[in-house]
Amino acid sequence: MLTMNETLKVIHNRRSIRAYKSEQITDSELQQILDAALMAPNAVNQQKWHFTVIQDKGLLDRMVNTIKENILNSGNEFLKQRASAPDYHTFYHAPTVILISADEKAPLIQIDCGLAAQNITLAAESLNIGSCIIASSAFLFASEKGSQFKKELGIPEGYNHICTIALGYKAGENPAAPPRNKDVINYVK
Ligand SMILES: Cc1cc2nc3c(=O)[nH]c(=O)nc-3n(C[C@H](O)[C@H](O)[C@H](O)COP(=O)(O)O)c2cc1C
Repeated sequence: MLTMNETLKVIHNRRSIRAYKSEQITDSELQQILDAALMAPNAVNQQKWHFTVIQDKGLLDRMVNTIKENILNSGNEFLKQRASAPDYHTFYHAPTVILISADEKAPLIQIDCGLAAQNITLAAESLNIGSCIIASSAFLFASEKGSQFKKELGIPEGYNHICTIALGYKAGENPAAPPRNKDVINYVK
């Protein structure tokens, strides 16, 4: 295989990290990660996204309690089983979580936010910071407590949760990459 340049190495080395050190990432690292998020391509440069940085452990734990409660009341058996584990924590105890919300009336906004999320994970990996994109955090807004959390988190009026990204120093080595199917590509030349 050809030797990879730095960008390709970061893309290949990034893994979803599910164990973090409790030590907080630095403000300078956080700022570089957020700057990368804002540089993501987005449809007609609409920028109808919003990023809430959460570094309050008490708040994160309260969010997890509500997410867990709502998952256990949902019909999703797979998630119910996961959330019932004694060590369940939606954000894997990461010290920083970025919640991406967006104006869902904006066309193609899910793609925009996905690209911002990917920029966050790649910027993090380039700084040797672990990350995990998490969608199950949507359960935070599945009960009437959701509107209170929206206020507390400063989510703009009319914006809704898209996903969260857990961030922190990795507690161990990167796990092996889950296998990728190679038969999803065809070439028309
Ligand atoms: C849209 C999206 C939602 C995800 N939601 C979760 C989640 O709720 N919890 C979780 O632990 N991982 C979540 N993941 C991480 C995926 O499980 C992970 O990216 C996938 O298994 C491939 O592994 P890798 O990221 O290490 O390459 C999510 C990833 C994406 C892109």
